[in-house]
Amino acid sequence: MQNVETYNDRVVRQFTIATIVWGIVGMAVGVLIAAQLAWPALNFDIPWLTYSRLRPLHTNAVIFAFGGCGLFATSYYVVQRTCQARLFGDRLAAFTFWGWQAVIVLAAITLPLGYTQSKEYAELIWPIDVLIAAVWVVYAIVFFGTIVKRRVKHIYVANWFFGAFILAVAVLHIVNSLAIPVTLTDSYPIYSGAVDAMVQWWYGHNAVGFFLTAGFLGIMYYYIPKQAQRPIYSYRLSVVHFWALIAVYMWAGPHHLHYTALPDWAQSLGMVFSLILLAPSWGGMINGIMTLSGAWHKLRTDPILKFLIVSLSFYGMSTFEGPMMSIKTVNSLSHYTDWTIGHVHAGALGWVAFITIGAVYSMLPKLFGAERMHSTRAIDLHFWIATIGVVLYIAAMWIAGVMQGLMWRATNPDGTLTYTFIESLRQTYPYYVTRALGGLLFLAGMLVMAWNAWKTCLPRRTLPVVAVPLPVHA
Ligand code: HEM
Ligand code: HEM
Repeated sequence: MQNVETYNDRVVRQFTIATIVWGIVGMAVGVLIAAQLAWPALNFDIPWLTYSRLRPLHTNAVIFAFGGCGLFATSYYVVQRTCQARLFGDRLAAFTFWGWQAVIVLAAITLPLGYTQSKEYAELIWPIDVLIAAVWVVYAIVFFGTIVKRRVKHIYVANWFFGAFILAVAVLHIVNSLAIPVTLTDSYPIYSGAVDAMVQWWYGHNAVGFFLTAGFLGIMYYYIPKQAQRPIYSYRLSVVHFWALIAVYMWAGPHHLHYTALPDWAQSLGMVFSLILLAPSWGGMINGIMTLSGAWHKLRTDPILKFLIVSLSFYGMSTFEGPMMSIKTVNSLSHYTDWTIGHVHAGALGWVAFITIGAVYSMLPKLFGAERMHSTRAIDLHFWIATIGVVLYIAAMWIAGVMQGLMWRATNPDGTLTYTFIESLRQTYPYYVTRALGGLLFLAGMLVMAWNAWKTCLPRRTLPVVAVPLPVHA
């Protein structure tokens, strides 16, 4: 079946280019703060360049600008092709693009100036929160509007993941951001004490579960079969994967609050649900990787597929590590150390960034009417620099983290601490330098990507794209 209807790929192109641009910006800030931890002089004694202000700028830029634009681009691309329908509401879709860019620019101005609500991953001040809510509601209308006007009966599993991500993020953002404004830049949260902490980490953990995981699983379920030219390994498993993941994620948030004022039963509940989470996570990973069975040889020649498949091994790694870290006794060692930072970036760079990069390489030529990316060798180069970069980053943080945890808990026979804090910091120094180097390599890979994208897009005139239905197991 061929469909000659032109899709709304203008907004997809815009979000795709924005993904590359914000990826470079967010990771450049990441490299700067990594360097500041090794060489504090790089704070330059300028308030808006200090670590404390740039750190939230980094997290907001990489998660919401880079990851967010990647999710908008891929969800709009996938929903149109799997529903065989043009995106609902051209103007609404344009509003989501410009509204989201406005959010990003406002964040980039207010965070370095020190305006913050001090809630991790929800730092932005209330007027920006209102704008985010407006953009997100319109995003839901565009996405689900397209599902409603679809021309195929079946709703492909990737759309289930994108849909869950959109709905869950709306609920999380609105509930966690409820606050009473006092001035244009200040507000008081409506929660206090342990309840405030619980709501914040219900949000924070599900931001990981739905923003950094469910949406990217939507990417996995479309782009891996597409790039490998194979149907998904088990469609039935993908449905079980979806419901199991959605049902379990919401309960795991308290593992961020072990040994705090949160009731003990709530901490244990978070731990148990985190351990259960291993099963659906690995079910999904296996489903993605096994899609390549019978076509493994393609990994030798297709670096885009390498990005997509290696992302799944990092996904498997971080979703094994996460449940282990949620065990209270393990968490008593890992919490406050760089182990957490290693875990975060195994997920964020290895999983989120790799799968986004793979998806961008896969759709960019199609979006700009080119046959393929300008240089396959440059993609391969990008793959290897990025892989070395991630490995340097996470290995350095794992070693540093376990070392810090052990040094902090070591005691002498008389009960005094064996090491001072400054001694542990001194021992960490080489690992901070290694992490900065790993980050720099990852950033260099992004610049190679930008060059390749530029060369691919520039000479092309935009062409209408013809949809080809995705092979799906019944
Ligand atoms: C060039 C690549 C990157 C570098 C060099 C980098 C560096 C850093 C540094 C130095 C920190 C602060 C660590 C600390 O406070 O001890 C950090 C935190 C963080 N980064 Fe990155 N980062 C990079 C890419 C990314 C990406 C792509 C994502 C997400 C998609 C990400 C998500 C985060 C998050 C969520 C945190 C906060 C972690 C926590 O609070 O536990 N980073 N990053
Ligand atoms: C089965 C899946 C996972 C479980 C059970 C899990 C569990 C955990 C645990 C126990 C912590 C440490 C909390 C603390 O000591 O403060 C943590 C931190 C974190 N994880 Fe995971 N994790 C999982 C997967 C992932 C993935 C795939 C990503 C990224 C894409 C991710 C991103 C993060 C972030 C950003 C933090 C730091 C939060 C903060 O303190 O700012 N996690 N996770």
